[in-house]
Amino acid sequence: MGRAFLYVILGGGVAAGYAALEFTKRGISHGELCIISEEPVPPYERPALSKGFLLPEAPARLPSFHTCVGANEERLTPKWYKEHGIELVLGSRVKSVDVRRKTLLTGSGETISYKVLIIATGARALKLEEFGVKGSDSENVCYLRDLADANRLVNLMESCSGGNAVVIGGGYIGMECAASLVINRMSVTMVFPEEHCMARLFTPKIASFYEEFYKSKGVKFVKGTILSSFDIDSNGKVTAVNLRDGSSLPADTVVVGIGIRPNTSLFEGQLTLEKGGIKVNGKMQSSNSSVYAVGDVATFPVKVFGESRRLEHVDSARKSARHAVGAIMERNQAGEFDYLPFFYSRVFTLSWQFYGDNAGDVVHFGDFSGGTFGAYWVRNGHLVGSFLEGGTKEEYEAIAKATRLKPAVEDLAELERQGLGFAVTV
Ligand code: FDA
Ligand code: NAD
Repeated sequence: MGRAFLYVILGGGVAAGYAALEFTKRGISHGELCIISEEPVPPYERPALSKGFLLPEAPARLPSFHTCVGANEERLTPKWYKEHGIELVLGSRVKSVDVRRKTLLTGSGETISYKVLIIATGARALKLEEFGVKGSDSENVCYLRDLADANRLVNLMESCSGGNAVVIGGGYIGMECAASLVINRMSVTMVFPEEHCMARLFTPKIASFYEEFYKSKGVKFVKGTILSSFDIDSNGKVTAVNLRDGSSLPADTVVVGIGIRPNTSLFEGQLTLEKGGIKVNGKMQSSNSSVYAVGDVATFPVKVFGESRRLEHVDSARKSARHAVGAIMERNQAGEFDYLPFFYSRVFTLSWQFYGDNAGDVVHFGDFSGGTFGAYWVRNGHLVGSFLEGGTKEEYEAIAKATRLKPAVEDLAELERQGLGFAVTV
């Protein structure tokens, strides 16, 4: 015998926090909702971990960044959950789920049953071992996915201030952590296999702006190679990073950001998977009608792309969670999730936003020497994606609106000439 709830959210990250708020806005009774999370704290805004949390002065610390402050909404502290009669089962890893019997088994051996389950298990960081490199568990090698990782990184930066940091990976984690390491006065080298940083999103021209900016802050780039091994001393500490190209970099700290894998393993063989995630429909409902999936773990139909995608960004986690709760509470009267993908980052004094899809022909515009600049992506004669660095609130709203409208673009040269003005006047 275990406890029974009407609604259970499995996972206690960003999506779980926004789902909880939405449940209370729509009106649930005390004792109806339970959130089970492996993390020891209630949901928080994960993006803070690579930004405000790593600042040397006045760093962000909980409880200041519990969800849902990132969307300028209420901050859900432990007290808030208590007051709303929401059961938080924290520090508890779910070991197995039986979607036929509608039960979950926690690490402590408790069986919890549900009428409706929301899967919000997010993703885990890929490990170097998965690429054949040993040494991830060394005390000065750090990944960054949760609060425990972020605390480790802060301690590492304090213990080797002024030392050498090697950042493995040129994606989001690599870029944001490299900036934070520089701000913490470390000497930083980034290593990644592609020809330029943020290869999944940036064009070579956009990447070149950020790389030059990073170089002006002292960051060194080693591109087109990956690490082959670590030198590890008798205390188990990494002292150098050896690269495939034969070179070696001295290291006091290593930060690894080489991508993620969605946490789907509990559901393999039970639910339909697609593109690495749990396949859901426009109501975020999985192949089992009592089970919904949201956030990083869900592969959902993205109308503007005309296909299903799995997105790994906070805005998508927040909105997909709200949509799922709406669909559940309205007993499937809700409409289909109609989401415009939105990604952003903030590093040093820079800040960019991206909307839509980076597919098709690219047109760059603006001042690439340090002012406001951006790019449009045009596919089949329509605007499908927009990127802007250094915009105002109104300008970001304009590119978002223009991208959602998908206006026809007949002449790429004319689009380039109009630049940001095109989005502003759409
Ligand atoms: P999330 O990972 O937030 O939560 C999953 C939860 O499930 C965790 O609490 C985990 O412990 C729990 N869990 C998993 N398996 C479990 C099990 N078996 N039992 C119990 N609990 C389990 N995006 C963006 O748009 N802009 C940004 O600036 C950033 N910045 C950023 C920084 C860093 C450091 C990271 C790691 C990520 C970002 N992101 C981001 C991405 C964004 O944070 C991410 O898309 C959301 O957190 C996804 O929310 P979810 O709720 O889906 O997963
Ligand atoms: P990523 O997919 O953004 O980048 C992975 C990078 O790893 C690639 O760019 C590549 O350079 C590198 N790489 C791949 N295999 C490698 C190998 N064998 N050796 C060395 N380098 C290798 O993933 P990430 O940077 O790890 O970010 C993890 C997650 O966190 C993503 O879901 C991302 O969306 C999220 N995140 C988002 C933001 C944001 O949106 N601002 C910020 C931080 C993190």
